[in-house]
Amino acid sequence: MTGGTELPQVRTALPGPLSKVALQRKDRVLNGVLRDFEGVPFVEARRHDYLIEDLDGNTFADHVSAWGAAPYGAHPPTVRAAQLAAWDRYGMEITNYLQTEPVIELAERLVALAPGRIARVAPTVTGTEAVEGAVKLAREATGRPMILSFLGQYHGESTYLAAANSTDTSVPTTGNAQYVPGFVFAPYPHSFRGPFQRGAGPFDDTLTLDFIENWLLRLQVEPTQIAGVLIEPVAGEAGILAPSAEFWGGLTALCDRYGWLLILDEVQTCLGRCGTVFAADLWGLEPDILLLGKGLTAGGQAIAAIMATDAVLADSHTHLGGTYAWEPAACAAALAGLDLLASGEVLANVKELGAVAREELLPLVDRFEQVGDVRPLGAWVALEFVTDKASITAAPAFGWAVHQNMLRRGVLAISEGNKPLYRMQPALTMPPELFRWSCRQLAEAIAQVAADPPVE
Ligand SMILES: Cc1ncc(COP(=O)(O)O)c(C=O)c1O
Repeated sequence: MTGGTELPQVRTALPGPLSKVALQRKDRVLNGVLRDFEGVPFVEARRHDYLIEDLDGNTFADHVSAWGAAPYGAHPPTVRAAQLAAWDRYGMEITNYLQTEPVIELAERLVALAPGRIARVAPTVTGTEAVEGAVKLAREATGRPMILSFLGQYHGESTYLAAANSTDTSVPTTGNAQYVPGFVFAPYPHSFRGPFQRGAGPFDDTLTLDFIENWLLRLQVEPTQIAGVLIEPVAGEAGILAPSAEFWGGLTALCDRYGWLLILDEVQTCLGRCGTVFAADLWGLEPDILLLGKGLTAGGQAIAAIMATDAVLADSHTHLGGTYAWEPAACAAALAGLDLLASGEVLANVKELGAVAREELLPLVDRFEQVGDVRPLGAWVALEFVTDKASITAAPAFGWAVHQNMLRRGVLAISEGNKPLYRMQPALTMPPELFRWSCRQLAEAIAQVAADPPVE
């Protein structure tokens, strides 16, 4: 125990005997990317508090939190109660045709929270659909065909628009729709691994703006053809990259000059993850279109949203959503989540988690040659591994070895084979002592792997 918080325990080899059998069954019936995947060598039996228990009784501190969709732990009681009460009252209902009060209240509450001139909501189920809808809306609102997007972002898994923009895949695949017309790309602003630069950073991420102005707009596309700029305010899957204030100043100036809509994909960053309600609040950004997902779910049912200004959404004829968008129980759960966020305790805890991450993990850059960069932000931290600080050559095998070492210690975070990244994404409400314990495990795991680093 750590200050009353139960610590995880791994009692068997991984996978344990019962998980092994279940994983073999999985490999016979699930699709390619889920087959033979060794990143999570167990099958979950249940989740309680901030621990995941596997079929063999091993427990792991949960630093995935359903990829951010369970921001208040496994079963926040008020979310559960609200969701069940709404289901008892309405059952499944189709919001695209018939309205209920939870839908209207959720839209009102989100509009009140959102930055700038955001005034309306269009319901969706997933973040992917929200991105798809945003692109359609930007084209409708401006009458322009092109979207300026950023290499290294992730926007979802659809066949067309969102996948075309999801250039941050752990394993690049042929057959992805990255060949669709209608997009121009600039590199995502990156202070550690900037393009057009060599050697050790930190780099000036406003070089991306030079590339847009002096290359894209001169040689590839006229500014009047661009409807909007699709950008994650903090790039999550790329390893928690937060652009500089100078970058945002320059980008929003371009939007103003050329009439481009600013589309912020906050599917991953919304509702507390970065320590503010929206990541936009970190820089006072005022988007024209704002996309929400994950955190909005509050650990309840699938729900996401497109929010936009009156100019974009009030008179739009674009069809969005679908059968399952904003069914009442999902909205009731989301409303209960907003109540939790409004209490102030959640953001106070995020602040503490951020302080712990900075205190425990930032010093690792000086301690280990292979820790190239540590990027903490709110309840979120990514470590980027390198073979050495001079060349900053990516070291994914090192990251993978750290991940395997952490699993044996009872910590599950996010690591994908081909990326040199290790990302901790706990619930916003994780007890700070469990988070600190996990960070200390990470320092020990890195020390063990660094003593005999794997070949890259
Ligand atoms: C920034 C961002 N946009 C969109 C998506 C896609 O959301 P979903 O998985 O709900 O379709 C994700 C998912 O990870 C994301 O991180």
